[in-house]
Amino acid sequence: MTLAEKIGQMNQLNFDQINKDLEEKIKKGEIGSLLNVTNAEEVNQLQQVALQQSRLGIPLIIGRDVIHGLHTIFPIPLGQAASFDDELVKNAAHIAAVESREKGINWTFAPMLDISRDARWGRIAESLGEDPYLAGRLGAAMVRGFQGNKLSDATSIAACLKHFAGYGAAEGGRDYNSTNIPIHLLRNVYLEPFRKSVEAGAATVMTSFNDNDGIPASGNGFLLKQVLRKEWNFDGFVVSDWASMSEMISHGFAADRKEVASLSANAGLDMEMVSQTYIQNLEQLVKEGKVPVQVIDELVKNILRIKIRMGLFENPFAPTGPGKTYSQAHLNAAREAAVKSAVLLKNNNQLLPLDVRKKIAVIGPMADAPHDQMGTWVFDGQKEYTVTPLKALQTEYKHINYVYEQALAFSRDKNKANFEKAVNTAKQADVVVVFLGEESILSGEAHSLSNINLIGVQSDLLAALKATNKPVVLVTMAGRPLTIERDLPNADAVLYNFHPGTMGGPAIWDLLFGKANPSGKLPVTFVREVGQIPMYYNHNNTGRPGPKNPMKLDDIPLEAKQSSLGNSSFYLDSGRDPLFPFGYGLSYSSFEYKDLKLSATKIKPGEKMKVSATLTNTGKYEGTEIAQLYVRDMVGSIARPVKELKGYQKISLKPGETKLVTFELSSDDLAFYGLDLVKKAENGMFNVWVGGSSDSGLKGSFSLEQ
Ligand code: BGC
Repeated sequence: MTLAEKIGQMNQLNFDQINKDLEEKIKKGEIGSLLNVTNAEEVNQLQQVALQQSRLGIPLIIGRDVIHGLHTIFPIPLGQAASFDDELVKNAAHIAAVESREKGINWTFAPMLDISRDARWGRIAESLGEDPYLAGRLGAAMVRGFQGNKLSDATSIAACLKHFAGYGAAEGGRDYNSTNIPIHLLRNVYLEPFRKSVEAGAATVMTSFNDNDGIPASGNGFLLKQVLRKEWNFDGFVVSDWASMSEMISHGFAADRKEVASLSANAGLDMEMVSQTYIQNLEQLVKEGKVPVQVIDELVKNILRIKIRMGLFENPFAPTGPGKTYSQAHLNAAREAAVKSAVLLKNNNQLLPLDVRKKIAVIGPMADAPHDQMGTWVFDGQKEYTVTPLKALQTEYKHINYVYEQALAFSRDKNKANFEKAVNTAKQADVVVVFLGEESILSGEAHSLSNINLIGVQSDLLAALKATNKPVVLVTMAGRPLTIERDLPNADAVLYNFHPGTMGGPAIWDLLFGKANPSGKLPVTFVREVGQIPMYYNHNNTGRPGPKNPMKLDDIPLEAKQSSLGNSSFYLDSGRDPLFPFGYGLSYSSFEYKDLKLSATKIKPGEKMKVSATLTNTGKYEGTEIAQLYVRDMVGSIARPVKELKGYQKISLKPGETKLVTFELSSDDLAFYGLDLVKKAENGMFNVWVGGSSDSGLKGSFSLEQ
């Protein structure tokens, strides 16, 4: 390869149309990848040019943001994370891969593994939540789903772990903002899901937009060379984010585009997305000795290795003939995913499941919002295929007696003109089901919010409906955990859905009518007030942990003398605790944990133990519980979190049935980066919990000793 041909492989451009110029560039070997070509014929035409008319015949790799489905849209990733279901997440990714390959797309920019502890950040929707263990397991499952058994299989696409690294910690939840993640937190929390997903065989990684502690990710050799290549043995390739390289100029990290190219190449970044500083400067930089040619060779080898592994040299083409896009099997899987991603937050007096004979008032802007129900990052999903809750009543749930009033045209609508109609509609029914939430455009990239209450006048609508004294079920469709504390008194039951995708409508009725039993658990903490952010379950204890019942604002006597009011960590106005903790979620049944047993009270490094408990379905319905294992390392060389998720299992139980739940815990599971920044388990005492949420569970303890 000539130097120019090597640099060409490192250049990725955005596609908007086929034209002479584009074909010329491909012929000259100036393009290694295109993103956003979505038409199979166009892909095939461009691949023909690459294979047959360029000197070396190197195929293109065609990327696209296939985040939660291509055409058949699954729940947004945050919703999928609520399923705690590795198989389900893997299958959703596999289906996305099948539909992508039909269009000639062979590379997706997913999964997004950014730990998200700030619901103001719009991209929390795209994340797998706040916990490194959960995000790591589900991220690895997504990688396996996208990539299949072999990258070269006809139904596989390459995965891309993003955004490396720390992007989710954007200051104040403002997108693209700086992050300040210190090294222990970076290693123990933010990098952990990436490590697991690299281990699962991810073919590519994308750098992030943020600077962490002043270093933009696209120029961060520590992350790309030391961590990714040296420590994790990653042998795929790294792509920048969209212009994240040239933006290093705005960061004030590079003086000009030439310096950008030099910084990124020397930091180990293989492919540049759209900003073209490589193609314009690398040859010159090599000549000047600022980028050694050996560096270019390594970068281009990483890219070609993946193209070979993907089988692109043999067949880069999209198949012709009928495909499986929107097949019944895909739609069924999307429906199952939506069912398993919903979280029941409240169910007073067992209002749910609803009796099918009851007359139902269906109200609200999200009851029939086929576009918004799909959520963020949907380019190819067609709203004509979306089955909304209203549409599901008109088609498959035809026997239900219902009345409908939209009340608000969309979530931000502030016009209350139809409230009276809505109230009258509610009065005609036995029960009110109100669909509220967020339009899809209110979350996702560059869509951060500083106020995350139900937007517009939706809370007022809910209050007006509650005032009818009819039982009210609140069903949400949202891109983030909203601050719904003030709405809870106005709803007898709450079924929380993150945007549920194409089949959300029937899935929701399956749950509301008890054809399915809610089993989702929260992948992220729900705060009471936006001012509590950041709040997450796996925080450090601090020297002055907050009490369970802290002093309240109104209990402070007038003209109270200056004092520290309990001397601990909490808010006077919103207390210590969140609204709902990580791992929380109800079922129509109830589950009881008993008889915690540890197979050992002492283990040595390298040993394993079993932690078990019996789980009984004490309710009337068959149901599935997500049993969770948490650990606390009581004393460490650095302070350790109050709890850390170390395992979960989904257990299905008939009414009255009991099963033994057994987790295996090894000393490796206790390892972390301590004071010396070497990953290992440290001797000492550990507490362990098995239960149904991060704030409950049976507790035991054991020690790790040499
Ligand atoms: C996003 C990435 C995405 C890329 C390509 C960027 O703006 O941050 O997540 O993959 O665009 O569309």
